[in-house]
Amino acid sequence: MNTGSILILPGDGIGPEVMAEVRRIIDWYGDKRGLSFEVSEDLVGGAAYDVHGKPLADETMEKAQGVDAVLLGAVGGPKYDDLDFSVKPERGLLRLRKEMDLFANLRPAQCFDALADFSSLKREVVAGLDIMIVRELTSGVYFGEPRGIFEENGERVGINTQRYTESEIARVARSAFELARKRGNKVCSMEKANVMESGILWREVVQKVHDAEYPDVELSHMYADAGGMQLTRWPKQFDVIVTDNLFGDLLSDVAAMLTGSLGMLPSASLGAPMENGRPKALYEPVHGSAPDITGQGKANPIACILSFAMALRYSFDQGGEADRLEAAVEKVLADGLRTADLLGEDGVQPVSTSEMGTAILAALDASL
Ligand code: IPM
Ligand code: MG
Repeated sequence: MNTGSILILPGDGIGPEVMAEVRRIIDWYGDKRGLSFEVSEDLVGGAAYDVHGKPLADETMEKAQGVDAVLLGAVGGPKYDDLDFSVKPERGLLRLRKEMDLFANLRPAQCFDALADFSSLKREVVAGLDIMIVRELTSGVYFGEPRGIFEENGERVGINTQRYTESEIARVARSAFELARKRGNKVCSMEKANVMESGILWREVVQKVHDAEYPDVELSHMYADAGGMQLTRWPKQFDVIVTDNLFGDLLSDVAAMLTGSLGMLPSASLGAPMENGRPKALYEPVHGSAPDITGQGKANPIACILSFAMALRYSFDQGGEADRLEAAVEKVLADGLRTADLLGEDGVQPVSTSEMGTAILAALDASL
């Protein structure tokens, strides 16, 4: 049986290294669980620029539109810092998000018990933490017009525009409420309605969607700056947080660090359902391309592996297999395995990227 199609875009820096471990996991599911994926691979980011002169070729964009799930490693690196803005590696990723209309970006921040001491916060603040940030991903200041650097009164002015329509706010709010119903049934919406009209509209629309369609879910509103503060003060007060593109970018990095390492956190970016009922979807680790450790076997493959677990859950309707993979990750961490980003405990020697992958595969075997 064909379970579905996956396009792998390893990208730059540590992207290819962590993705190699994901490929082993995908193969394991084929061999041992009868999930057969049709896997293809292509270029994105600087790797695509080197070949095509742009960070995402049109053929790759087309392929991405036609698969059940895109898995992306990471984009960017110092080699590309001086490129023109329009062809920077990041533009490849932003094009995928925009053209696939992946408006709901799910960024879970979960603290594995074995790693609670790696957080910069006290163990009791983060132990057991399990929150989900839903970031709007295809609008707001990332894409609003006008934008650019212009001449005005003899000097330059840089302009970006925060812009949200009611329907853009409503659809991401619905994603957040739907998720909340399957979790702790609580949504906190964050904006800055005290200074931004787009924030006033955001708050109004989220409240309206709630009252009309999700009155059973507990809804609160918070200014995004206070939200950042509350996230570091007592993060366990939150279940699902829904927020705009830029605030979501910031707040999800904050939430990520609560859990100890950026190397642990996956994400899913979901759009509207396709003809086969599955949502348009792209899965990627929250971490970047980490050029400082590229090619040294030091990268932590867990964020990318957990992103594949999210693909199993949200694209392939394999929630049980996603649970299995997450449990395997939890097991190797509990056994004390640490990649180089997770050092500091007495007498612990780091394992390499591929040793971590091998250990997770062994834990998967043991789960059968
Ligand atoms: C993220 C990243 C991206 C963003 C960059 C790489 C364009 O920071 O996914 O959080 O700003 O959205
Ligand atoms: Mg970011």
